Amino acid sequence: MSARFDTILKGGTIVNHDGVHQRDVGLAEGRIAALGTLDPAAAGEVIDCTGLHVLPGVIDPHVHLREPGAEHKENLASGSLSAVMGGVTAFFEMPNTKPETTTEEALADKVARATASAYCDFAFYVGATRENTDELGRLERLPGCCGVKVFMGASTGDLLIEDDAGVEAVLRTTARRVSFHSEDEYRLNARKSLQRPGDPSSHSDWRDVEAAVLGTERLVRLARMTGKRIHVLHVTTAPEMLFLSQHRDVATIEVTPQHLTLTLPDAYEVLGTKAQMNPPLRDRTQMEGLWLGLSQGAADTLGSDHAPHTLEEKAKSYPSSPSGMPGVQTLVPVMLDHVNAGRLTLERFVDLTAHGPQRVYGIANKGRLALGYDADITVVDLKRRRTITDDWIQSRCGWTPFVGRTVTGWPVGTIIRGQRVMWEGELLAAGGLGRPVRFQEALQPS
Ligand code: DOR
Ligand code: ZN
Repeated sequence: MSARFDTILKGGTIVNHDGVHQRDVGLAEGRIAALGTLDPAAAGEVIDCTGLHVLPGVIDPHVHLREPGAEHKENLASGSLSAVMGGVTAFFEMPNTKPETTTEEALADKVARATASAYCDFAFYVGATRENTDELGRLERLPGCCGVKVFMGASTGDLLIEDDAGVEAVLRTTARRVSFHSEDEYRLNARKSLQRPGDPSSHSDWRDVEAAVLGTERLVRLARMTGKRIHVLHVTTAPEMLFLSQHRDVATIEVTPQHLTLTLPDAYEVLGTKAQMNPPLRDRTQMEGLWLGLSQGAADTLGSDHAPHTLEEKAKSYPSSPSGMPGVQTLVPVMLDHVNAGRLTLERFVDLTAHGPQRVYGIANKGRLALGYDADITVVDLKRRRTITDDWIQSRCGWTPFVGRTVTGWPVGTIIRGQRVMWEGELLAAGGLGRPVRFQEALQPS
């Protein structure tokens, strides 16, 4: 081949839609320019990937980065730094900031802030409210928007549309797939007395399996009634997995590393309020239901639900303690450890972290190692054994629920549109290189 490349990834094992193959990857002008056996002399830079696996860039479609409004927990720079150190090449960020991302101005402000400071590519959800429902069809097509998010059950922040009529109105005014936090607010309100002060394990009694199942059943009925597509975020229960897999024409499914890894009662015994999140952690039976569904193709995407709170905030007594745990940096190592344990294949991991987000959100030019696609690449060492520590975490919150866990499988490199941002734990680029992810249903004239 006589073509010239900016960079060649040499000697790695590529995991992609067509299987697992030893192939070099040529990058030029930020895109994938060749896959095959490439002459190293044809590259400005050669990165030796011998013994490593070369994956399409890992996309985390579910993070909360707290800017603007709560930058003491996180900001777009620290959250995206945490992402790239963990092998993540792009994130989609939730709207429950202060102010909430519910207007064109708030969205444009986030895009401008991220363009100035982010270490990886990004997009933002627009949050649905009763006030902006009529406008969502326009807002969901704005540059940098990955779609609309609806909280059907109240969580961190004030965003909430709990009733069928409100959700139906959102589905009627939107054209893109809408993402949902699905817990039934009526049941949550009715059961609030089950919270036991000082005992975070009661969080899972209060926000029980049935609350999630009820929310999801209502949601699917509304999707059918309106003929619209829904994405159910952080599915945590076996019955929802089964139910949603009977509605694959309208519904897609996100799972999280923590709900696939941490279970009751141990999680609360070991982590206390650090294990508190919405929807809550569940018992082993529910987790096994998630794995069973995942192993049969039910899950579409893997989101970390990175929701940083400071240790001081988490140290408050339950239920004053906030819900949420960080996760964007640990998604890759925690899931590669599951790959090594035989719980999912590396191909399935790629499906969940690259092809899945592309399919669910309609990403224009990311999610595959294929000619012409953005050169977003996550390089991993499947054999590396390391212990996850709090001091490795770049998030401002400075802790991880996976502390002390020894995993096999580690992110070695993060390459974004051809630029090496992280290699062997070293940061090689400055903030401000991140750009908005583009979507098929919202392409802008260029
Ligand atoms: O546990 C959670 N924390 N669940 C959510 O829905 C929101 C998140 C947060 O923003 O802290
Ligand atoms: Zn979330």
